[in-house]
Amino acid sequence: SDPDLVARAQAAKAALGERVFVLGHHYQRDEVIQFADVTGDSFKLARDAAARPDAEFIVFCGVHFMAESADILTGPDQKVILPDLAAGCSMADMARIFQVEKTWDALTAAGIADSVVPVTYMNSSADIKAFCGRNGGVVCTSSNAETALEWAFDQKPDAKILFLPDQHLGRNTAVLKMGIPLDQCVVWNPLKPNGGLTAEELQNARMILWKGHCSVHGRFSPEVVDELRATIPDVQILVHPECQHEVVLKADLVGSTEFIIQTIEAAPAGSSWAIGTELNLVQRLAKAHPDKHITFLDKTVCYCSTMNRIDLPHFVWALESLVAGTVPNQITVDPETERWALTALERMLALPG
Ligand code: 13P
Ligand code: SF4
Repeated sequence: SDPDLVARAQAAKAALGERVFVLGHHYQRDEVIQFADVTGDSFKLARDAAARPDAEFIVFCGVHFMAESADILTGPDQKVILPDLAAGCSMADMARIFQVEKTWDALTAAGIADSVVPVTYMNSSADIKAFCGRNGGVVCTSSNAETALEWAFDQKPDAKILFLPDQHLGRNTAVLKMGIPLDQCVVWNPLKPNGGLTAEELQNARMILWKGHCSVHGRFSPEVVDELRATIPDVQILVHPECQHEVVLKADLVGSTEFIIQTIEAAPAGSSWAIGTELNLVQRLAKAHPDKHITFLDKTVCYCSTMNRIDLPHFVWALESLVAGTVPNQITVDPETERWALTALERMLALPG
């Protein structure tokens, strides 16, 4: 990365000292992650966001929904800054609050809303987290989805779960971790009347999966898994649960980005791995572990384009603006949304394990 920008980032961070706390998701670029005080997956960053209540500014190197969650989980005087406001998440954008409310109305009309517990993946807007908080539900991340689903099923007799917005995480967790039959996982398409489901399909379902997915993890295919198994002796396939069910079925290990990192750190020298998650992280792992053979589980380049929007120029601009006394790109959640989203997030943080 540009040495002049690196020097400017160092100088601005030093000038701000304890006033600033920089959080970085594992999918961030190397040029940015080097300045993070804390790195982590979505769960760890949600837990660590409140670790420095004395810091005036929290610069969040990640995407919009993570910055919103950090704002909800930190003190009223702390300001959360997202260095580029265009760093959204295509998956989070697939569930809008008006669509979720319409869905709830349809479930009410079908006579089943009373037995439904809404669970939203962290990768969703604050108003959807608030919807879950208000309706007895919870937030989950890829590292605690199983525990969150167990909690949700325990909330009501014969409970059904409305899982938002990632159908793959919902299906992979329900089927592979909890033994729920695949045919009891139905997909709710918000663009169709009644989600495109019959009354019977809804009655029999235990998991109602929102029709959303991650455009990055959705690209990994079972065919490439087969090809790599045929060409790399003893390769182990390690994937994120946002991957399609057919890919996860063929994998050796599945888990959150933090799990992927720990697995590679613990792997013996000489072992071979093909990893299905965002490319910045896979490249960083390959560089940090030259004694292990690490391959990307796709034949094309596949960064998360919105994570990549936080680059060094934006980071420097954000820090230098703070030094100059202006607060750029502050992310704030309105108090009513914050109150209920916090309820759902606190239920998640209180889960065992
Ligand atoms: P985790 O950080 O929970 O592994 O999620 C990955 C992701 O896609 C974040 O956007
Ligand atoms: Fe969203 Fe997927 Fe990018 Fe994560 S990797 S921020 S889920 S688009």
